[in-house]
Amino acid sequence: MSSLFDFDAAPDQYAVMGNPISHSKSPLIHSEFARQTRQNMIYNAIQVDDGGFEQAVGNFHGNGGKGLNITVPFKREAWELADELSLEAEYAGAVNTLMFDEDGRSYGHNTDGIGLMRDITINHRSRITGKRVLILGAGGAVRGILHPLAAHHPQQVFIANRTPDRARELAGEFSSDHMRPAGGGFGDTPTDEPFDLIINGTSASLQGDLPPIPASAVAAHTICYDMMYGKEPTVFLQWAGKLGTASLIDGLGMLVEQAAESFLLWRNVRPDTAPVIVKLRNKA
Ligand code: ATR
Repeated sequence: MSSLFDFDAAPDQYAVMGNPISHSKSPLIHSEFARQTRQNMIYNAIQVDDGGFEQAVGNFHGNGGKGLNITVPFKREAWELADELSLEAEYAGAVNTLMFDEDGRSYGHNTDGIGLMRDITINHRSRITGKRVLILGAGGAVRGILHPLAAHHPQQVFIANRTPDRARELAGEFSSDHMRPAGGGFGDTPTDEPFDLIINGTSASLQGDLPPIPASAVAAHTICYDMMYGKEPTVFLQWAGKLGTASLIDGLGMLVEQAAESFLLWRNVRPDTAPVIVKLRNKA
């Protein structure tokens, strides 16, 4: 690794791999982090064809690359390919961060769930411990957040999904002393009391769809978080806003926080995420 003042040395190389990749904000985010923390590194976006992932990772590492972010659709392949996995990656069944050591071994980590938890608890100063949490969706995105969520000891977790069995299975798999989630269809969502936090981890927002959860799940104090983000508020956040919820949060902060966790792993320095979130928000 180059030292802080060793600017004659070639920059360390990092990249994000995915398909498509041209829309990725990761190069901008990591360049901002590098500038802020004065790290001698470059970060590119690499589009990888289907079936070409392992080769692309081998080439990148063979050319001296130090670390990668992995995005859709290669997170599972990265999980299979990594020589060693963090606990978060193991539970998530997916890797979004790879780091290579001097001996050529790869370490796979998943920073998505940690990023979400940091955005909620630090950026938005909201406690999860002891709270009632409703999670919408039971796909890869939700699987990735359940282990970090359990560490915060929520009082109650219900996973609601279009395909109820997927939610039930996921709830069973992540049941532990820290958290005993239940799962079912959207219509099975408990309505005896509003939730404190609702996290939309479905991809419904991409299609402009609203997961059909009962309005009684939401009250004025409920924090509504959509892991997706876009120029306009997602349909889920618009719906929650109309019901009078004050805390509406999209996934931009999570995106920057998960990047910061990768950066910390690679460079051993934690960047300041706040100015980068503001910069991206202003660009959106
Ligand atoms: P990801 O990795 O983004 O989580 P995924 O594993 O395909 O992708 O999961 C997508 C999630 O969004 C699933 O929970 C899916 O519900 P199903 O399990 O029933 O497929 C959910 N989803 C996708 N489109 C949806 C829609 N229009 N309405 C409600 N839920 C939807």
